[in-house]
Amino acid sequence: MADFEPKLISFLCNWCSYAGADLAGVSRYQYPPNLRVVRVMCSTRVSPQMVLRVLLDGADGVLIGGCHLGDCHYISGNYYTEKRYDVMLKLLQIVGIEPERVRLEWISAAEGEKFSKVAKEFTAKIKSLGPIPTKKSKELAEKLRAAEMASRSFRLTALVSKEYNLVTRGNVYGEKLNDWELREIVDNVAEEEFERAMILQLTKGEKLSVKDIAAMTDIPTARILSHIVELKKSNLISTEQMRGVAPLYRAMKA
Ligand code: FES
Repeated sequence: MADFEPKLISFLCNWCSYAGADLAGVSRYQYPPNLRVVRVMCSTRVSPQMVLRVLLDGADGVLIGGCHLGDCHYISGNYYTEKRYDVMLKLLQIVGIEPERVRLEWISAAEGEKFSKVAKEFTAKIKSLGPIPTKKSKELAEKLRAAEMASRSFRLTALVSKEYNLVTRGNVYGEKLNDWELREIVDNVAEEEFERAMILQLTKGEKLSVKDIAAMTDIPTARILSHIVELKKSNLISTEQMRGVAPLYRAMKA
């Protein structure tokens, strides 16, 4: 991997990390040119969908930089970022891509040296991992596409955007949820939405039975059936025809 030069995207919040990167430049702290910086107003602007999209488009890694906890210009933005980051990692884990390819760091406007250190470390890490495996494996690329689709599902986005509030302030009845309880719920929803996205992707081009889908994925048939019931309710999949006694399904839109 000695000659591999990774393509890295870095989303930096305007008020801290971007200023930190600027300070690194002004102070002549060097960092590898592999990082392409995208300035965002707050780290919480970086959604799981954005990160997965960037990886799908060929980036080998993504670095997200924000203000230290408690210092966010928008008070609590980076607490939401932490929750979003957990979902990114969960989806990467489901796909089978190394979670180290996405890193979250708190870097203040005064930490130019830290920015340079993090950029060097991150580039070295991705160099050691090699190019993102989706470039060679069609199957992984398909899974990553499904993860991206799952990341923009209503259930997952709604849950992730409420996660911080549900833990700190509670729901409309004032009931607070434990962090770990909620994490388990979010992880389960991420898995379900990923599986539904996989089913939609596979049935986009051809009519498939539950057995066909099970043979093409690791999803058990009972789970596939229950996903199909839910997808039918949302008009996302329909029964096209029968093969013997087995209904064949096709995605209506994806
Ligand atoms: S403004 Fe920097 S993390 Fe929110």
